[in-house]
Amino acid sequence: MLTDGFLGYRTSFMLDFVVCALVIIVPVLCYSLWLAKFKRRYQQHKWLQIALGVILLVAVGAFEVDLQLVHGGWENIVAKSHPEEAALAAKVAESRPYLWVHLLFAVTTPVLWCVTLVLALKRFPNPPTPGPHSRLHKTLGWLSAVDITLTAVTGLVFYYVAFMQ
Ligand code: HEM
Repeated sequence: MLTDGFLGYRTSFMLDFVVCALVIIVPVLCYSLWLAKFKRRYQQHKWLQIALGVILLVAVGAFEVDLQLVHGGWENIVAKSHPEEAALAAKVAESRPYLWVHLLFAVTTPVLWCVTLVLALKRFPNPPTPGPHSRLHKTLGWLSAVDITLTAVTGLVFYYVAFMQ
């Protein structure tokens, strides 16, 4: 199970783990934004956002170690379901553009997330309440939220094209 994933495809445990994390993160994020926007429960919003950041960091870190160091790249995981050389080359070529689009969002998300989090922790009072930082925080916050959602959606599309078909 640890070498082949648990979602029923010939992937890896950590790849399937990150796919699940990405699916779970989006509704939790929506809940946290709802708490801030409609319930004014800023302290809960703050801790949920910190927790999401830590979970993302740990999940993606472990995933990268597994993908790059243990498997030696995503192509080697595709090779599990496409052992024949020509079929593997065709699958890799077909999947690569989807990966590039995914990476566009996957690389910018941690940067935006980090900036949003650090500025909010520095500039909002403790416990947090709306103030002079609200305007910039809302812009950065919505950008981070859209970015991570697109990271999740494009990641799932890549997973589908590269590993499920
Ligand atoms: C990456 C992490 C975070 C994201 C993506 C995020 C996102 C957001 C978004 C999109 C809103 C605006 C909701 C609306 O339209 O009304 C918001 C509001 C707010 N957030 Fe965050 N947030 C994050 C972290 C934090 C942290 C760490 C704090 C506290 C230290 C915080 C405190 C607040 C407060 C006080 C508001 C209300 C602002 C106002 O209505 O004037 N946020 N957040």
